[in-house]
Formats: sequence, C-alpha cells, structure tokens
Amino acid sequence: MTDRLHAEQGRGDPFAAAVRATRMPMIITDPRQKDNPIVFCNDAFCDLTGYGREEVLGRNCRFLQGEDTDQGDIGLVRIAIEARTDVSVELLNYKKDGQPFWNALYISPVFTDAGELQFFFASQFDVTDRKERELAALEGREFFERAVRDRTAELEAALAQKTMLLHEVDHRVKNNLQMVAAMIRNQARFSGSDDVKTSLVATLARVETLGAVHRRLYESKDIATFSLSDFISEISVGLVDSTGQSRVQLDLDLEPVEVAAPSASPLALLVNELLTNALKHAFPDGRCNGRIRVTMRSADGEATLTVEDDGVGLPAQPDSRRSTFGHRLVQSLVRQIRGSLTLSDAAPGTRATIRFPSHSAASRP
Ligand SMILES: Cc1cc2nc3c(=O)[nH]c(=O)nc-3n(C[C@H](O)[C@H](O)[C@H](O)COP(=O)(O)O)c2cc1C
Ligand SMILES: Nc1ncnc2c1ncn2[C@@H]1O[C@H](COP(=O)(O)OP(=O)(O)OP(=O)(O)O)[C@@H](O)[C@H]1O
Ligand SMILES: [Mg+2]
Repeated sequence: MTDRLHAEQGRGDPFAAAVRATRMPMIITDPRQKDNPIVFCNDAFCDLTGYGREEVLGRNCRFLQGEDTDQGDIGLVRIAIEARTDVSVELLNYKKDGQPFWNALYISPVFTDAGELQFFFASQFDVTDRKERELAALEGREFFERAVRDRTAELEAALAQKTMLLHEVDHRVKNNLQMVAAMIRNQARFSGSDDVKTSLVATLARVETLGAVHRRLYESKDIATFSLSDFISEISVGLVDSTGQSRVQLDLDLEPVEVAAPSASPLALLVNELLTNALKHAFPDGRCNGRIRVTMRSADGEATLTVEDDGVGLPAQPDSRRSTFGHRLVQSLVRQIRGSLTLSDAAPGTRATIRFPSHSAASRP
C-alpha cells in the first residue's frame, strides 16, 4: 500500500491521491518492522514539522517529542499501540527548528481482511492557538484565584488581629470597671458620713450595672445588639437581693426586646435608677407585702418599659425631686436613648414609664 501511495503521485487511486493532497498532516507506520517506523508521510506532515520526507521515513515518530512533552500522555499512546486500539491525545511536539507546537494526534490501527495488523495510520492537527488560549485562560484564572486566596488570607489575619484587640480591650474594660467598683466599695466602707456612704453605694450600683452590661455584650456572639429583657431580669433580681428587700415581691413580665449596643448602657442605668427608687422610697414603712412590677412591651418600633410599685407614691411636692443626682441622671439617660419618661400615680404607688425606639427580638431576621 505504501509503495502504491508513493507510486501513485495522485494518479490512479483516488484515496491515495486524497491522502497526499489533504492539508491534514498524516503518516502511516509499519508495526511489522523494528520499532514501528514511518513508511509514509504526506506533504502536510512535512510542512507542519519542518522535516523533509527522507528525514522521517524509517524513524519512529517519537523524534517529535521533547523536554516538555507529557510522559503520561506518551504512556497512553504506548498502551493503545500495544493494545492495537485507536487513541486520541494532545501532545506537545517540536518542529525541526525546535519550535514547540500542540499536536492533536489521532492514531488508528489498520487490519487486513484476515484480521492481521498491517499499519498504523495517524493524523496530526496543529492546535497550538486553541491550546495557548486555554492555557492563558487557565493562567488568568489561577492568577485571580491566587489573588483572591492572598486577599482572603490578609483579611483573615486582619480579622484575627482585630478579634485579639477586641478581647484585649474587653479584658481591660472589665478589669478597670472592677477596679473602680472596688475603690468605691472601699471608700464607702471607710467613710465616716452616712450621706457619703449612701451616695457611694448608689454609685457602686451604677458602676456594677455598667459592668454587667459590658459582660453581657461581650459574652454574646452578637455584639451589635443587646437583649434587654434578659438583662433586666438578671439585674432586677440582683438589685432586690442586694438591697435586702426580700420581703418585696418582684413581678417580671418582659417581652423579648433587643436594642442597639450603644443604647444598652443608658437603658440598663435607667432600670437601675427606677428600681432602686422603688426599693428605696416606695416602702419606707418596711411593708411586708410590697410589690414591684417591671413590664416590657414592644410594638411598631417602639418599646415601653414600666417600673411600677404599690408603695407610698411620689411626694406631693414635685420640686423636691428636681435637684437630686438620680433625677438629673434619669433625664439625661432618657435623652440619650431618644425616649420619653412619664411618672404617674399608680394608685396606690408610682408608675415610671419609658418609651424608646426599638425592635422586638421576634421581628429580627
Ligand atoms: C502512527 C503513529 C503516529 C504517531 N505520531 C506521533 C506524533 O505525531 N507525535 C508523537 O509525539 N508521537 C507519535 N507517535 C507515538 C510514538 O511513535 C510512540 O509510539 C510513543 O512515543 C510511545 O512509545 P515509546 O514510549 O516507545 O516512545 C505515533 C505513533 C504511531 C504508531
Ligand atoms: N418609686 C417611688 N416611690 C416613692 N417615692 C419616690 C419613688 N421614686 C422617687 N421617689 C421620690 O422622688 C425623690 C427623688 O428621686 P431621685 O431618684 O431623683 O432621687 P433619690 O433617689 O432621692 O436620690 P438618688 O437617685 O440621687 O440617689 C425621692 O427622694 C423620693 O422621695
Ligand atoms: Mg434615685
């Protein structure tokens, strides 16, 4: 057949003429000869590789391979040839002048009618352009992936640093508040004046309230919002216990309300002031059945907090309240949370109502 192909020169056998003339590089090898040499190649193969016909005939095709040809792919070709099956691979090959090109190689065995292996036929198609585009796209993707990986690592490191800093600040704030509380406690203990003692104890309660807010904020996973209802139950019980007013009954009816972190401290201090007032002033006679009720409701973005007692009620002369520190503190805290405060007669007792902007915990996403 190869002799015929060479002899044909395009005359006679139209198939041979077509194989010669096609622009698709093609070769035929003879597996019955030692090392399966090339016995035919068309002009397109010579054009593609840069080799003359006489330079390739009689050689195994592996001379096209070079340094960067993938050994795994060559192995696939070897296995297919040994198994006498066809194979299709894309190999990096080299032209005679050393220039690399991507070769889409297709090899197929040719059998005689008797089923005997006669030749291997192959076509080689130059796919360098496509392959380079693919490689460039891959490199581009790798570049961006690397950039994203690097940036993520940077951000993670920055976040870790911020978290560490936050813990450090948290720790220091906690320590400082504890120190302030300890100083006030000691000063109160050693003060000779009952008035000073009373003022210092009131201040201590305020500092401790701030400490409790801080603890809650930083112990929770979400430091942006503050669960007010949980906090109120915690400090109310604590306050009643600490004043020794165990005979006062405390009723809590608190809808879950969350507030933004900056409102947590003023609201906590407000609850402290109102509850302390009820405990301090509502039951001067040491009544056994006194009751304090704290309620929290939230609707349409507004929360209503009431602290109500059934004690003696506010003094008839409201002016007596104006100059106290407690009164001024409450007024300023209410302004801070953009809220309003109403003191009313609960007949019997006193009702303090604070309204402020909020969102209920249930309505949060
Ligand atoms: C018909 C035929 C065509 C081949 N064409 C190429 C080719 O264009 N480029 C190439 O790198 N290898 C080609 N090969 C593969 C090599 O000739 C050889 O089979 C391969 O390198 C695996 O064998 P080896 O491990 O002994 O080198 C061809 C093989 C056959 C049978
Ligand atoms: N729940 C209450 N029941 C009865 N009287 C109250 C109640 N709350 C406040 N008062 C009266 O109002 C006065 C002023 O309260 P305010 O909280 O402003 O000051 P204080 O509690 O006396 O002192 P401070 O809060 O500065 O420690 C109190 O002295 C008390 O007479
Ligand atoms: Mg007070």
